[in-house]
Amino acid sequence: MAMETQDRYHRRLATLSAHLQPSSTQQGGSALQMGICRAKGSSPGFKVALLGASGGIGQPLALLLKMNPHISVLHLYDVVNTPGVTADLSHTDTSAVVRGFVGKDQLEPALVGMELVIIPAGVPRKPGMTRDDLFNINAGIVRTLCEGVAKCCPKAVVHVISNPVNSTVPIAAEVFKKAGTYDPRRLMGVTTLDVVRANTFVAEVLGLDPAIVKVPVIGGHAGITILPILSQVTPPSSFTKDEVEYLTNRIQNGGTEVVEAKAGAGSATLSMAFAAAKFADATLRALKGEAGIVECAFVASQVTELPFFASKVLLGRNGIDEILPLGPLNEYEREGLIKLKGELKASIDKGLAFAAK
Ligand SMILES: NC(=O)c1ccc[n+]([C@@H]2O[C@H](COP(=O)([O-])OP(=O)(O)OC[C@H]3O[C@@H](n4cnc5c(N)ncnc54)[C@H](O)[C@@H]3O)[C@@H](O)[C@H]2O)c1
Repeated sequence: MAMETQDRYHRRLATLSAHLQPSSTQQGGSALQMGICRAKGSSPGFKVALLGASGGIGQPLALLLKMNPHISVLHLYDVVNTPGVTADLSHTDTSAVVRGFVGKDQLEPALVGMELVIIPAGVPRKPGMTRDDLFNINAGIVRTLCEGVAKCCPKAVVHVISNPVNSTVPIAAEVFKKAGTYDPRRLMGVTTLDVVRANTFVAEVLGLDPAIVKVPVIGGHAGITILPILSQVTPPSSFTKDEVEYLTNRIQNGGTEVVEAKAGAGSATLSMAFAAAKFADATLRALKGEAGIVECAFVASQVTELPFFASKVLLGRNGIDEILPLGPLNEYEREGLIKLKGELKASIDKGLAFAAK
């Protein structure tokens, strides 16, 4: 067979194999290697793993990632149901190759070679629960998954969605420190949903298209630790005292609004998947070299005396290039910042104490 025809033949076989036996290509069950699977005729993209892919957030997020042109390989890992989710998603005619991995024995093959790992694994809130109530279960899940990351893809950028983000990000940092792989530029707690909600609610009040509204949200990702900076809204806008109170409360309690409306069936999933996909896209574009991409995220930080803080960060080829200053805050925001620090510190300390056990 001529070289070129042989190449094409291998590529077609590899694609078929990847779809039909998603995890076998990673476990040595097939002679075809991932390198061949990636050569699909489209431009090469990033390799992304989604951990907790069968869940309420995981499934719609998997779909949105499969539609992202910057992703060439998408690994779906969960402790249940990934074969079905993968088979279903693999029929969508976008260029990313999707592979499924199920159960803890397949965590490592799911992670080898990944460049971005997104973690929505864990349990969601029910009415009456705070994000902190999830701590005992989700802390252990995040620790285990991050140990896998440290071992199999230590250079990957990691997006942590599992709550309480204020504690799970410090846990992830400690796991990476213990493994000797910690790079604070590559670990980010996803707070994009707070920004997405803030943009939506502010746009409603101003009568604008939410697509043109940008609200920085700082602090953390739970209750009063979520602090929207309405004085820095783009386009520049002013709000009455009542509007500021209404917007701040609604943004801080947006998650609870959804938990109560779902009445026991979980927390935000569709809006969270949308937010996570937006943040993943921004991160990948920056990794690729696009300049000037700024997003809010909960990261290791020196903008306050707390070791982790959510604020605007400039993304780049290595993850976080720069943590931007908070900028001028008005009196209401300065008070909010003082109030949130105690609660945020307690959640960070709880995560650090768990990781030290
Ligand atoms: N950061 C945010 O803004 C934000 C917003 C909403 C929800 N969340 C959090 O995201 C998490 C997931 O929410 P959901 O609604 O998708 O929950 P879900 O219960 O619908 O899905 C969670 C998935 O994680 C899987 N899972 C459990 N243990 C695992 C493990 N060890 N390894 C891999 N997968 C595992 C489950 O099988 C399930 O498929 C929760 O902790 C929730 O609080 C975060």
